[in-house]
Amino acid sequence: MNKSNNHKCDFCGKSKEDVEKLIVGDQAAICNDCVDLCVDILKDEKVKNFPVDQKTLNPVSLKEYLDEYVIGQEDAKIALSVAVSQHFKRINNPSTEIKLEKTNVLMLGPTGCGKTMMARKIAEYLDLPFAICDATGITEAGYVGDDVESILTRLINEADGDIEKAKRGIVYIDEIDKIAKKGESVSITRDVSGEGVQQALLKMIEGSIMRLPFTGKRKHPGSDMQEIDTSGILFICGGAFVGLDKIIEQRLDRRTIGFNSQIGEKYVNPNIFQNVTNKDIIQYGFIPEFVGRFGLVVSVDELTVENLVQVLKEPKNSFVKQYKYIFELDGIDLQFDDSSLTYIAEKAKELKTNARGLKNIIEKTLLPYQFDAVNLVERGLKKIVISKSTMEGNPATLYFDKKSKNEQA
Ligand SMILES: Nc1ncnc2c1ncn2[C@@H]1O[C@H](COP(=O)(O)OP(=O)(O)OP(=O)(O)O)[C@@H](O)[C@H]1O
Ligand SMILES: [Mg+2]
Repeated sequence: MNKSNNHKCDFCGKSKEDVEKLIVGDQAAICNDCVDLCVDILKDEKVKNFPVDQKTLNPVSLKEYLDEYVIGQEDAKIALSVAVSQHFKRINNPSTEIKLEKTNVLMLGPTGCGKTMMARKIAEYLDLPFAICDATGITEAGYVGDDVESILTRLINEADGDIEKAKRGIVYIDEIDKIAKKGESVSITRDVSGEGVQQALLKMIEGSIMRLPFTGKRKHPGSDMQEIDTSGILFICGGAFVGLDKIIEQRLDRRTIGFNSQIGEKYVNPNIFQNVTNKDIIQYGFIPEFVGRFGLVVSVDELTVENLVQVLKEPKNSFVKQYKYIFELDGIDLQFDDSSLTYIAEKAKELKTNARGLKNIIEKTLLPYQFDAVNLVERGLKKIVISKSTMEGNPATLYFDKKSKNEQA
């Protein structure tokens, strides 16, 4: 390094006057521009090797991770684990000879059974940027609403503005069933906007270079558009597909018992979605090209009352564990007896909300105790037991310190 006071950057040779900042050490000096450059090089290096230890992802490990959180849905968990592991093979081992095709996933099944949750848990496990968006808000370019590109903007934001990271991310498009054309048979009144959105999504989902307005850090000041190649992004689309069961049922009826299907008691399979074919989805209102972009169609099953009880207490982050923790923070031991859990599960089943409704039902009952917790603890409250009777609107059993006798609230 130049020993005089006239320091220069040892990397680019610029003098102190020509740069914003010059960091001078004993043996060398570096300017702010070269520091920025080095940071970028290190970051790019990291992205290239990302994720280092997951060049091939073992689907079994991913499935085991999902098992910790998601009750039931065995088939969907296995199918998703394999699809994601394939996605990894594709993005981490690009072969010039054999091009692995993209396997986007279409997930169908009743509300509140774990579709969004599974997608979210997968992203969490892989530590990939994950964006959730809702198909109902998407419109064709030029119409009022979010356009298709906004999905990618969201993913880039999730990747903290890092396009390279975003290019390997996962996008979950919820409520995809809402962009079906309405009623294929009533073609005169068919909903063109649904078809338009499907068309707009096509290119992005199959993998192409999309241009979108800049977000995040700008590498080239002045340019207000950026490009992102979507071929490494895994798209998972999910929806409840209300009414699709009827289409599947009709097809199965025609195949098995023909016109006699209306006669007598008919057995309705709660997991009829397992029999879905691409044709059914097309009949539901999707254009064949759109359906064709999904290499994998998985269905989630309706949760039984037993499943719902499991959802309440078993997952790592179960509702019971969450509420116990909330009360523990106030110094109260909260307990649910088995009768209360069955009651909550049956109620959710009755409301047809599946697991989605569980929290709401518990919350309503626990609200007054949460409100009063601090006062009750001051009076010596140690434990609250929630039973079926509590859930039906009666007071919970409250246990106070030895000094005060047990009392009912
Ligand atoms: N199989 C499951 N195991 C454990 N928890 C579940 C399961 N299914 C749903 N839940 C719980 O219910 C909540 C709602 O589920 P989720 O958002 O995944 O439903 P969904 O299938 O995406 O429904 P929708 O079609 O309405 O979007 C989750 O956050 C989770 O707490
Ligand atoms: Mg969902």
